[in-house]
Amino acid sequence: MPNFPVKFGNSEFLYKATCERDESLIKVSQSSEEFFIQIREKKDVILVKADKISRPSQVVFVQQALRDFRDLCECSVVFSNIESQKIKNKKKFDVIKDIDFFADKFKNEKEMWIEVGFGSGRHLLYQAKKHKDIQFVGLEIHKPSIEQVAKQCEIQSIDNISILDYDARIFLEFLNSNSVGKIFIHFPVPWDKKPHRRVISSEFIGESIRVLKPNGTLELRSDSEKYFNYSIEEFFKLSKLNININKNKDLDISSKYEDRWKKQAKDIYDITLKNEEISKEKQKIGKIGFDSRYEFVKIVKNFQKVVKNEKDFFLHVEDIFIINENKGLIKISFGASTKNERVYVEFTKDRVSYFPDNILETKANKQAHNLLLEWLKDTIK
Ligand SMILES: C[S@@+](CC[C@H](N)C(=O)[O-])C[C@H]1O[C@@H](n2cnc3c(N)ncnc32)[C@H](O)[C@@H]1O
Repeated sequence: MPNFPVKFGNSEFLYKATCERDESLIKVSQSSEEFFIQIREKKDVILVKADKISRPSQVVFVQQALRDFRDLCECSVVFSNIESQKIKNKKKFDVIKDIDFFADKFKNEKEMWIEVGFGSGRHLLYQAKKHKDIQFVGLEIHKPSIEQVAKQCEIQSIDNISILDYDARIFLEFLNSNSVGKIFIHFPVPWDKKPHRRVISSEFIGESIRVLKPNGTLELRSDSEKYFNYSIEEFFKLSKLNININKNKDLDISSKYEDRWKKQAKDIYDITLKNEEISKEKQKIGKIGFDSRYEFVKIVKNFQKVVKNEKDFFLHVEDIFIINENKGLIKISFGASTKNERVYVEFTKDRVSYFPDNILETKANKQAHNLLLEWLKDTIK
């Protein structure tokens, strides 16, 4: 194993942090992205892979880091899935934005339309080309889809889309009230066995109404009768409601999923909610950080995993990774019970920060962050 920090190829390997289970994280800096790669040592074999929590939206950066690390270590490769002709484009796409862009700089001078879970992007690209005066925001959590659609925006010179690798259930909290013309949710994952992961919930509907302009619409399209019925129930929790329901309505453009369901002769359900309210403005959401420093040496000494579940939020402290006496990481999962955040907390002598540093001041995150501060206080006693 090399000594850190070390530069090799296009990557800088900043440090190695190790936990008890012969598992390590190596922090990589590359093309203005920072993330971890994971190392697991088993007898005389080392398994090196991307870390899911910190993985950047463009998988090419991770692939490059993995290849640089392999070459740096001069290991013989037993198996690899990063060698391929697929690895061509190592360019950062302008159309892919970080959440900070929406938290700080974003001004929607044009009317905004949002597509949740755009997948192959057929509908998003079609709408953006058709409505050049609209600023589109495409939300997706599947990284290959994000890159694929970003590439299409470039090839087709589409400049009115911003793509964001972010959970749609949290995103709306960033937007000004009465600022969005349309929200499309086409064929969301039904999550029949994990309903808490569904995009549609009374909370999401409430936030949609807040961000929609008067006469703005939330358009849900699904092939799942169960999801349709569930959604109807969620919509009817509102005291006042204007919805329109359609079955097997044809749209101008058919998505990849839709084509599949149509071939199987499945029914397709549409629910369109029309907003009729003017909502109150809401304070912009910032990011959560730490004001105090904590001595990492004390955290290591007293570290204990913890599971704290409150009614609407939770904190799980899952693991500790040590860089040296004064530096290290803890791995946590926290936030709202319906939309959890997985993140590391990075401790150095001078500062404590979340990594990736994108924990937003949502109500549940603030409550969960306070639980973490209590845990830190107890741990360093
Ligand atoms: C079944 S696919 C449908 C894709 C596309 N709308 C279509 O019709 O072809 C659902 C998509 O939603 C994305 N997704 C699921 N949960 C999400 C969330 N909370 N925020 C953003 N995207 C999400 C998934 O990654 C997936 O690409």
